[in-house]
Amino acid sequence: MTAVRVAVIGLGTVGQGVVRLLKNNAAEIARRVGRPLVVTQVSSRDPHKARDCDLSGITVVGDALQIAREADVDVVVELIGGISPARELIEAALARGKPVVTANKALLAEHGNRLFAQARKAGVSIGFEAAVAGGIPVIKAIREGLAGNRIERLAGIINGTCNYIVTQMQEKGQSFADALRDAQKLGYAEADPTFDIEGLDAAHKLTILASIAFGMPLDAKSVAVEGITKVTPQDIQIAQVFGYRIKLLGIAKRSGQGADAGVELRVHPTLIPETTLLAKVDGVLNSVLIRGNAVGEVGLYGRGAGGDATASAVVADLIDVARGLGADPRHAVPPLAFQPDAVQALPVLPMAAVASAFYLRLKVADEAGVLSKLTTILAAHDISVEAILQREPQGHEDAHVALITSVIEQGRFDHALAEILRLPFVREGAAMLRVEKFD
Ligand code: NDP
Ligand code: HSE
Repeated sequence: MTAVRVAVIGLGTVGQGVVRLLKNNAAEIARRVGRPLVVTQVSSRDPHKARDCDLSGITVVGDALQIAREADVDVVVELIGGISPARELIEAALARGKPVVTANKALLAEHGNRLFAQARKAGVSIGFEAAVAGGIPVIKAIREGLAGNRIERLAGIINGTCNYIVTQMQEKGQSFADALRDAQKLGYAEADPTFDIEGLDAAHKLTILASIAFGMPLDAKSVAVEGITKVTPQDIQIAQVFGYRIKLLGIAKRSGQGADAGVELRVHPTLIPETTLLAKVDGVLNSVLIRGNAVGEVGLYGRGAGGDATASAVVADLIDVARGLGADPRHAVPPLAFQPDAVQALPVLPMAAVASAFYLRLKVADEAGVLSKLTTILAAHDISVEAILQREPQGHEDAHVALITSVIEQGRFDHALAEILRLPFVREGAAMLRVEKFD
């Protein structure tokens, strides 16, 4: 039986995981494919660098472009990340008619439309299961398992680094900086962890999910993004008193009717009731809830980052590619779930029009009438208060008031907040977070 020859470009956390997995599970994988899947080439900029995988029998090549162009390679796996040279390498492989597997959500969210078009022309596939939620097979679940549904909503924890950080802050009282350092050591974070903590990585993943769920083109710029850098231990603790957990969520949701119909695409730290499924997803684990109009709610859960978990998704794509080698590409599953000529742009709602409840924490001077003035302003904007907490001043510190509002469009809440912040007893340092109940 001729082996399927795999080239791996990028021998970092995920690349080494892929080499390990293909060796460790070689027999099981060959039984699934019908022939062996063998890594024949890997790229390495530094041949002396120690790698946590067995490279015996594998040709190590310094020039990644050489691998992408190599004649005796059946499939190219791109695992270096970032835009350039990853994009050029993938283009080079596609130009030579080679299928590609990648975990690179940044590249796909930014340049995926063109890359998928090039792949289609070349009659080859781009597998990208590992680009969203690490080892969770969420792409295949939406694209194939839920293909009979109109997807109404997706919501999930889709960045392992952020979830690890907020969990460590909540459970262990660890500082943000220490938790981030640990996430980097564990191989969860992006090469530039700003992408994780500022919500950009989750936004890239949400871009991909929204595209396969709603049949819209990939457009990373359409996602409203807020990261976790402003989430404080104090807010985590107050949220807990209110019965909530703070999680970085990605939410993609159909919204509005008729001429106002569109989608919400947003990534932000969110208070969610501690009794909900998502609130119990801790550490590096990710979870995605999908609501289809026939199936109802479907939940997926698993490791969202890390070498072995992500390798599981990469290898699943490799098996798909290997099974399809030589098959007529016209019968392949469309990579973005919808037929390319049926992909349609949808209006994306501005955040001002997006409704949610809000958590607000204010530092206030310790004087009489504070609560009544706050609630009067909120009531004037038709916002009711569902929960409120006042903390006495500690030593020289100001008092704190924290509250959770009723559901309101953000534009209207912002007007009320602007008035509140002008009150003379309100000090600098207010915190505002969105609240989602999932009921
Ligand atoms: P790492 O930083 O651990 O590894 C990247 C590898 O790419 C390194 O081995 C590096 O080579 C190589 N590399 C970087 N730049 C170049 C270049 N210009 N030419 C050739 N090789 C290069 O990244 P990860 O393994 O963590 O991530 C890889 C991809 O997988 C990214 O797209 C990431 O977003 C995605 N991903 C990562 C997950 C994770 O948990 N880590 C989970 C899901 C997706 P060298 O060692 O030779 O310096
Ligand atoms: N940095 C990413 C995360 C890797 O932490 O989720 C998985 O995509």
